[in-house]
Amino acid sequence: MQPTTLFTTLLTLALGALHVSAHAMPNPALGITGRALQRNDAQRPSDDKPCGNVDIASNIDKATAIPVTVGKDGTSVTFNMTNFNGGGDGSRKVSVLIDPTGTGKNFVKANVTKNGDPAPKEDTGSDLITVALPDGTKCTGGKDKNLCLLSVKSTAGFGACTVASQLASTTGAANSGKVPCNNSKKNRRAVATRAARFLRAQARELEREVEVEEQERSLHGNPLFVTTLL
Ligand SMILES: *[C@@H]1O[C@H](CO)[C@@H](O)[C@H](O)[C@H]1NC(C)=O
Ligand SMILES: *[C@@H]1O[C@H](CO)[C@@H](O)[C@H](O)[C@H]1NC(C)=O
Ligand SMILES: *[C@@H]1O[C@H](CO)[C@@H](O)[C@H](O)[C@H]1NC(C)=O
Repeated sequence: MQPTTLFTTLLTLALGALHVSAHAMPNPALGITGRALQRNDAQRPSDDKPCGNVDIASNIDKATAIPVTVGKDGTSVTFNMTNFNGGGDGSRKVSVLIDPTGTGKNFVKANVTKNGDPAPKEDTGSDLITVALPDGTKCTGGKDKNLCLLSVKSTAGFGACTVASQLASTTGAANSGKVPCNNSKKNRRAVATRAARFLRAQARELEREVEVEEQERSLHGNPLFVTTLL
């Protein structure tokens, strides 16, 4: 065997071994809907393919979108980074790029303000990651023109894209919700009440996280939420 061939073979084997033993990715992830993430869903985001092998255009509108909240330093997004094996290979420490157009062609660096464990002890687990989007970011991706695409990559090189959704206005929860088919007045009220209660709880939770992170209240007290949360 030629030395270069041997080298290529060894490299291929090494990469192959890495590929089966080291996986972590954001949860939810672009391209995975209706089931739990599995370790072989993890991608290897690169400059050429920031979402790995997942097709962006055909998946962005199907993705579970996580809400963008308004924070002190612009807008922020919180999601879980889930690992599928322990140690440095399953790192939940990430860097994040954001593409406000949702096309995958306009990524810029986002500021990770709360990061994950670079060497988790447990074989599978999650850390909440908080990302501050650049000031003035306006999400314009997807058919409703309110989605941002995030490319998440761990220090071990694994990850995937995830989708964040930004509402244009502060219209209340009840108005922004996708109200289900039962259109009776009584039911509309019941749904709206439940939705409002849920959103208030979520708002409090996220506000707390932002506060802890920033050690002070965010300028905008009421985070904006997506209809898909309902
Ligand atoms: C993150 O993961 C934990 C554990 O699975 C779960 O309880 C929590 O709801 C998740 N949070 C978000 C924002 O996805
Ligand atoms: C990133 O976030 C940290 C913590 O909020 C802040 O101190 C820093 O200035 C930010 N950097 C950029 C480039 O936005
Ligand atoms: C609609 O909702 C109301 C109130 O929750 C309920 O009484 C009624 O049975 C529902 N109708 C249908 C068709 O589900």
